[in-house]
Amino acid sequence: MYLVGNWKMNGQGAFATELARAVLREAVRMNVLESHTVICCPPALWIRDVVQICAGSGIACGAQDVHTHDSGAFTGNISAAMIKTAGCDYAIVGHSERRKYHAETDELIAQKVAACLRSDIIPILCVGETQAQRDSGEYLDIIAAQLTAVMKKNTELSQKVIISYEPIWAIGTGRVPAAPEIDKVSSFIHTLYQSAGFTDISVLYGGSVNPKNCAEIMSISSVNGVLVGGASLDVEQWTDIMQTATSKIR
Ligand code: 13P
Repeated sequence: MYLVGNWKMNGQGAFATELARAVLREAVRMNVLESHTVICCPPALWIRDVVQICAGSGIACGAQDVHTHDSGAFTGNISAAMIKTAGCDYAIVGHSERRKYHAETDELIAQKVAACLRSDIIPILCVGETQAQRDSGEYLDIIAAQLTAVMKKNTELSQKVIISYEPIWAIGTGRVPAAPEIDKVSSFIHTLYQSAGFTDISVLYGGSVNPKNCAEIMSISSVNGVLVGGASLDVEQWTDIMQTATSKIR
């Protein structure tokens, strides 16, 4: 299973390095890395520190975004090629907060996925619906459109892609879809990709994952892991989530 912590734009001073050290200590203590992939996604400024702290442990590092280009006159941006050099193996792409606050479109996100694959970065592509889209019943169409844009641009069937289903209404709200609902969407995503010939697909769930609800979420057979925001910033909560995963080897 994938256990991904999206630290978002949090932490000052030594926060990120102290958190990385604590995640490493607890992951090693619980032997979680033998059967699961733990990925820390710190703010870009601290990627190198986190990579250095976790080096050789099996804990991987991911960026929270990449640019569509490998280099060039793009002030303020960071490329997939650069984060690869810094030691990342993963990048979150198309998070709803990027879609909302940076007006990222499906087409742009498809280009970012392509940039990741060019630089041997495994993209963690986020998809999900708003509350209004869920209420109107059109959410599977929305998710299919988000995924199709990426598949059309990226036809390399052999490359690994991780999809994270993150209903926007569940992010930071404490509200989580019922397990059969999560299963319905994650199974839908698996089917959509398999029918397009992609075989190496993992589907995560993200949105208010915490120590109390993670056991049920991890028990859903179509779910291959979790993408965690708030609870990944708290050592105790993140440790509980890793602990829960250790009892769910598959
Ligand atoms: P929360 O776990 O804080 O709801 O955030 C989820 C998320 O956006 C992870 O990418």
